[in-house]
Amino acid sequence: MCGIVGYIGSRVAQPLLIEGLKRLEYRGYDSAGVAVLEGDHLRIARAVGRVAEVEEKLDQLGGFAGTLGIAHTRWATHGGVTEANCHPHRDDKSGIALVHNGIIENYAALRTYLEEKGHVFSSETDTEVLAMLIGELYEGDLEKAVKAALREVTGAYAIAVLCEHDPNTLVVARKGSPLMVGVGSGEYVVASDASAIIAHTSQAFPLDDYNVVRITREGFRTSTINDVPVSPKMMQLEMDLEQIELGGFSHFMQKEIYEQPKVLRTTLRGRLDHNEGRVILGGLASFAKELIKARRFILTAQGTALHAAMIGEYLLEDLAKISAEVEYGSEFRYRNPIIEENTVVVAVSQSGETADTLCALREAKDRGAMALGVVNVVGSSIARETDAGVYLRVGPEVGVASTKAFTGQVTVLTMLALYMARRRFMSPEVCARCLRQLDEIPAKVEQTLESDYRVRKVTERYVERDNWLFLGRGYNYPTALEGALKLKEISYIHAEGMPAAEMKHGPIALIDDGMPVVFIANKGRQYDKVMSNIAEVRSRGGHVIAVATEGDNDIKSVAEEVLYIPECEEYLSPILAVVPLQLMAYHAAVLRGHDVDKPRNLAKSVTVE
Ligand code: M6R
Repeated sequence: MCGIVGYIGSRVAQPLLIEGLKRLEYRGYDSAGVAVLEGDHLRIARAVGRVAEVEEKLDQLGGFAGTLGIAHTRWATHGGVTEANCHPHRDDKSGIALVHNGIIENYAALRTYLEEKGHVFSSETDTEVLAMLIGELYEGDLEKAVKAALREVTGAYAIAVLCEHDPNTLVVARKGSPLMVGVGSGEYVVASDASAIIAHTSQAFPLDDYNVVRITREGFRTSTINDVPVSPKMMQLEMDLEQIELGGFSHFMQKEIYEQPKVLRTTLRGRLDHNEGRVILGGLASFAKELIKARRFILTAQGTALHAAMIGEYLLEDLAKISAEVEYGSEFRYRNPIIEENTVVVAVSQSGETADTLCALREAKDRGAMALGVVNVVGSSIARETDAGVYLRVGPEVGVASTKAFTGQVTVLTMLALYMARRRFMSPEVCARCLRQLDEIPAKVEQTLESDYRVRKVTERYVERDNWLFLGRGYNYPTALEGALKLKEISYIHAEGMPAAEMKHGPIALIDDGMPVVFIANKGRQYDKVMSNIAEVRSRGGHVIAVATEGDNDIKSVAEEVLYIPECEEYLSPILAVVPLQLMAYHAAVLRGHDVDKPRNLAKSVTVE
């Protein structure tokens, strides 16, 4: 949801800014721009399209030579995708340039106020309003003007600001949208996430809400918008460059699907105590006493993370026998939720920055819930605002379509359910058996990936079809939802996911001759019922693609296509069953000629409500 980068130091800023933008392009990619201070002269290049278009513009302009600059890659909120709406935006009075991720909610009132003062706007954006406001309040001190402006603003922002009259200062600030400062030797790289920093330094600190950092080549100072000094929490970035490069794969999504066996081993490493038959989750240690009192879990998330959370609901009820329910963060927050004593709210999120999930978490905390995070990005907002949590450890996920984060989330939620079960009633022996089953999963994902060629062949046969159904029951109802979401978001094929039994209550009317219907039909408690649902589809002309358990030959007589997954316990089956669905979506997008890693209209991290 927009990526911002800033640099101040002794190196020429432009190549660093462009490289940073390319790393952040997954966050938004409808337009981009760069502003650099050359002495006291502000130079700006902006273009609709990808970062490459801005690079071309910079070439035409002969490049920018300055050592202080800011840059932005956009996912449009206010105003269409036009060059006038591209960032950086500047004011018309004080030589201010600004890049922004987030939404200024009171922009209309501020714009009217500024227009009355004679300012003339050249874009439709909320960001230009903020640039003008800072310019209006500027009296020779950029930091002071930024703080004064931010005190007038409601909404979310991560901003980087520079000023022609102060060629040794970069001011950055955050509320609601992520931002971190990388600290090198005599230089600083500011970015929406670590991927744009790691090539330059591994020392960084994230900004908290309402923090402002004034950075010069000699050092930096952090304070709140109300001028209260703040000590930044310096951290060591653990990412390495290899993790955010394609490494021989055609797309990040493909790379991330294939990484799953390896990263799931990392997710499990050190957390399964086979001897004692228990799960060790260090992130929950300080909270163990509270957790034992838990009577109800509410899992909150959006998108793919919500599907993982739905599986978490089944796991907590089935394995730990504890009441659990799932809520879209966006709905939970606004429906006056009842939080009784000993309720645990679990926010599930890859990025840890999803505004809907974060707001739901805050709402739950305000109402007295204990808060846990199941998050991938270390130090993200959700990770910092929860009482305790478990990191996914699946490494950076660059592809906009979430894949390895999903299997990582389900793996962590399985461990959480076993952790709770063991503390409530489960014997070490039973738990040890579950841990052995869980430990075998990465190897089984590896085996599942061997069917990639076959998945591609099946996808080729149906890729021209514009409407698909994904059906599953029990643990694999959420998997069906996830399969449909994957197909929709990167191949732009209309797909619906639903419980297999629900089909006959209406959606069956959609089935016509040759419609692809994907069933997750692994062996389990509801296998026979799923077989009946398959028969219902077949008798209406639908083409059944079944994800089935290795060795199930019966299914071949009812399904046109069968994609096998290794045998496993039912509660673990979503981690395997989702893999052919991820591959199917990937191949469909490639076959249809789409940009797999940057699907239209989407952004990786949705930091606005
Ligand atoms: O970062 P999060 O896991 O909180 O993101 C939640 C959703 O925005 C995300 O899963 C989205 O649905 C992806 N595009 C799915 O592939």
